[in-house]
Amino acid sequence: MSVISEKIQEILAYAKSRLEESNEAGDVNDMRVRLLGKSGELTSLLRGLKDIPPEERPGVGKLVNEARDSIASMIELRLALLKRLELERKIRDERIDVTLSGKGIKRGSYHPCTLVREEILRVFISLGFSVEQGPEIESDYYNFRRMNMPKDHPARDMQDTFYITPDVLLRTHTSPVQARVMDKSKPPIRVVCPGKVYRPDDDATHSPMFQQVEGLVVDKNITLCDLKGTLECAAKELFDSKTKIRFRPSYFPFTEPSVEVDVTCPVCHGKGCRICKGTGWIEVLGAGVVNPAVLRDSGIDPDIYSGFAFGMGVERIAMIKYGIPDMRILFENDARFLSGFKEEI
Ligand code: PHE
Repeated sequence: MSVISEKIQEILAYAKSRLEESNEAGDVNDMRVRLLGKSGELTSLLRGLKDIPPEERPGVGKLVNEARDSIASMIELRLALLKRLELERKIRDERIDVTLSGKGIKRGSYHPCTLVREEILRVFISLGFSVEQGPEIESDYYNFRRMNMPKDHPARDMQDTFYITPDVLLRTHTSPVQARVMDKSKPPIRVVCPGKVYRPDDDATHSPMFQQVEGLVVDKNITLCDLKGTLECAAKELFDSKTKIRFRPSYFPFTEPSVEVDVTCPVCHGKGCRICKGTGWIEVLGAGVVNPAVLRDSGIDPDIYSGFAFGMGVERIAMIKYGIPDMRILFENDARFLSGFKEEI
């Protein structure tokens, strides 16, 4: 009897000290299995009851059961304590300081070329033009042939570019949209066609991809004067009301006559500065009276109708408007540069 009770005291002392050292619920549960489980030490003491004299059994059984109960409650106490400590730790560590100021949400801004493109479209829409678009992957037929540039025409050389097959290429200008519009609609036509175009140039003032806005008007009695009046009005809107324009003779196979159009430098108003290289003028677009051959190819009778067309580079106008000296900065997407522009159109 005394041997067994000593053994029980030993187990109790062991349980107490081990539980006090256990800082994880997992360790406490291991102890439960070890002391109280089926092959635990107390259970084997109970199993040994049959080997002791019958009169001693009730007393020993009682001792073992009391030990079981006290170990079980020690375990529960320890688990409750660990749970409370864990909760306190969480409350301490995961506290949210609601008084900290929040992180601001950075709003994006429009790319300067988007702003300029939308501004150009707005001006022409207000003059009664509508907006049309065509594909960037274009056929040789629309990009060149319908623009009066048959195969081997020397004017192709300036634009000869990114071919996908011998008959399909990335369009080199937005002019093919003129032919696409004329194919599906009858005069009077008044459209502007924005879009990306591709050429094999790459330097401070040329990019292999850039945006153009094409313009086309076809109606009865359209002349070079209408072109000049329309462009002068648009230039005053786009730059400022003092802006003047001038025509210089040029050549495009799809217009006759053809012109390059300059505007007075919006920085120095014609006096001459760094931006206009001292000339007071800046070239902004190519234009002309639609070549009768182009009208005829679209099924429009050039004896009844005439038209004008123009094509302007969006990046170029953005550079002039914002005084950007190098076109490449427009494509670098440096947030410090871009964040200076308007958030709304
Ligand atoms: N397509 C010409 C270019 O890209 C511009 C242009 C358009 C000229 C319309 C005349 C008429 O250079």
